[in-house]
Amino acid sequence: MQYVAIAIDGPAASGKSSVARRVAEHFGFLFVNSGAMYRSFTWWVLENQIDPANSAAVLELLGRSHFECALKDRSSVIRIDGRDVADALMHSEEVNGAVSSISAIPEVRRALVAEQQRFRSMGDLVMEGRDIGTVVIPDTPYKFYLDASAEVRERRRKAQGIDDDIRLRDLKDSSRDVAPLRTAEDAMRIDTSYLTLPQVADRVIQILHVEGVRRREPERPTMSWVYWLTYTLSKAFFRAAYGMEVHHAERAKVVGGAYFASNHASFLDPPLVGTALEEPIYYLARNTLFKPPLFTWLLPRLNTVPVDRDNAELSSLRISMQLVKEGKKMVVFPEGTRTPDGSLQPAQRGVGMLVAKTGVPVIPVRIFGSYEAYPRNRKLPRMDGKIHVVFGHPIYFSTEELATKGKTGQQAISTRVMDAIASLSLPDTSS
Ligand code: DC
Repeated sequence: MQYVAIAIDGPAASGKSSVARRVAEHFGFLFVNSGAMYRSFTWWVLENQIDPANSAAVLELLGRSHFECALKDRSSVIRIDGRDVADALMHSEEVNGAVSSISAIPEVRRALVAEQQRFRSMGDLVMEGRDIGTVVIPDTPYKFYLDASAEVRERRRKAQGIDDDIRLRDLKDSSRDVAPLRTAEDAMRIDTSYLTLPQVADRVIQILHVEGVRRREPERPTMSWVYWLTYTLSKAFFRAAYGMEVHHAERAKVVGGAYFASNHASFLDPPLVGTALEEPIYYLARNTLFKPPLFTWLLPRLNTVPVDRDNAELSSLRISMQLVKEGKKMVVFPEGTRTPDGSLQPAQRGVGMLVAKTGVPVIPVRIFGSYEAYPRNRKLPRMDGKIHVVFGHPIYFSTEELATKGKTGQQAISTRVMDAIASLSLPDTSS
């Protein structure tokens, strides 16, 4: 999938962030603020009491720090070693003073540019910074360079009440050896000195319209023919055998990656959730299920990722997290195993871990009737009874919930998900 990428570069206080954000909102694109990444790492350097001029120490920190670049509300966020960096910290006087030196270190740039480029596979986006059009996404035809006189830019910063020596920062940013601030040859240059930010954004939007950029309608990923055929046959079967009814399917329409978390009573549950939806989703299944030759062929085509029960922490879970981070949807069962008696069981920690590590929303799902149709102790399903699939409102976890470290925090997320599943009742269908 070739996504649209729009590069907006320019010096400090040229209006890049506000304009890029508006443009992203107009087109419904993702917004990536690359400056925030350099700022976050700079804050991390200072937080670790490292002298920004000591590149060896900075590099040592870089080597042992773990970056997680993700999307939150369609904007880029960065976490370093599991910590979110608040906006205020990122824009402190100390960070303003040190960020240009830190971002001149080639290894720092290499690490952060790689993260920035990863966003390209996540959707159409607007990315702003200093080297976006020249280094990060040089192949895009949509490049803008915003500028304004130093006086105007200084006035803007003062009006924001921010202490920031922008002339010095500009000098450092444009004179460094690696990826200095400069206008890409094919960039459209806009002087924003005498324009308001909405005016600049309108101009950029107009130009992009002329170039043919359009808001993308939320697209439904297409099903492969194998998925489609299995989906259609299963759906027909569930309707004929159990009069399957789906309730509140509109709640499942979440943009981007998400987990569907369902109660688990039967082997029928994964296909029930899958056929209750209009789009293809991903599944996890025990690796032993992949053994029969038909399943070796079929399951991967049904978007099923094998999990090694004994080494559940390993690659399959990593793959599953990567999938949701890329915007795919996956069904998971917080209880871990099928209920032995039809009642809901307590949530295990696994789902909490997946959510904490990916930050994606969770849509609770409650299935009624699958236990009666095909409980654990039966060899074959019963062909009667009624099945309902009820979707709950998506849960968007707060930064605090996602940041809680370790087992307790993950368990708390899982429990919240399970409570949301339990709170879903069968809609009154009698009236
Ligand atoms: O856009 P900003 O003012 O928040 O950026 C802060 C600093 O980060 C900037 O002075 C230089 C550095 N930066 C960079 O080197 N390359 C980018 N693409 C973005 C920012």
